[in-house]
Amino acid sequence: MYWPFSNFHTNAMSLLKKDKQRIAIADYLSRDLPYTLSPDDVFLTVGCIQAIEVTLMVLACPGANILLPRPCFPSYGALASSNNLKVRYFDLIPEKGWEVDIEGVEALADENTVAMVVINPGNPCGSVYTHQHLKKIAETARKLGILAVADEVYHHLSFGTNPFVPMGVFGSIVPVITLGSISKRWLVPGWRLGWLVTSDPNGILQKSKVISPSQSLNSSKQREELFTLIML
Ligand SMILES: Cc1ncc(COP(=O)(O)O)c(C=O)c1O
Repeated sequence: MYWPFSNFHTNAMSLLKKDKQRIAIADYLSRDLPYTLSPDDVFLTVGCIQAIEVTLMVLACPGANILLPRPCFPSYGALASSNNLKVRYFDLIPEKGWEVDIEGVEALADENTVAMVVINPGNPCGSVYTHQHLKKIAETARKLGILAVADEVYHHLSFGTNPFVPMGVFGSIVPVITLGSISKRWLVPGWRLGWLVTSDPNGILQKSKVISPSQSLNSSKQREELFTLIML
């Protein structure tokens, strides 16, 4: 006999389990932030790679471009292209510990730029940015009216003297989309648990409906609203 609710118990249990994971991730990431993340800020993904893919897909509205570091983890360029999201590269400066060329970012951005990506700790350069440099990046993104996408898959795997500072610390300057997973820090690359977290204590992404499940940043009107909210 066909019984449509035969999987009800299993599905309910797996939803509860997912809620537990989101609560655990929100708690864990909040330890390093000046505010508390809610489990609703956390979206589970299949490793960090799917978090990257979803982010680029959501940002890929017609004509949009994204700013990527050079050198960069190569999947960003490939996934942006496969989602028809145009890519512009800003330089990382070797003489300055692979810091972002802020002036280069300002010169590259235009009204179709939706976000800039920061990989910290960096792959492939191994750099760990200071609090001061990350703040400067956040201020630049705010000035340009774009999102900061922070790939922190190597969070806390920092070598050298700089401690790891999450970009979400500057979430009140500019909304940050934090991408991560358990694969690197816990040395479990085969356990495909990742996350996409909105580090946005002012709720700008919600107000501009960027994170509404049924919508993406896919109209110039939404982009305009987001821009206005970031600039407020
Ligand atoms: C910078 C960066 N982001 C994301 C990923 C993908 O991480 P995951 O293995 O969790 O999918 C990698 C993997 O090497 C990486 O180096």
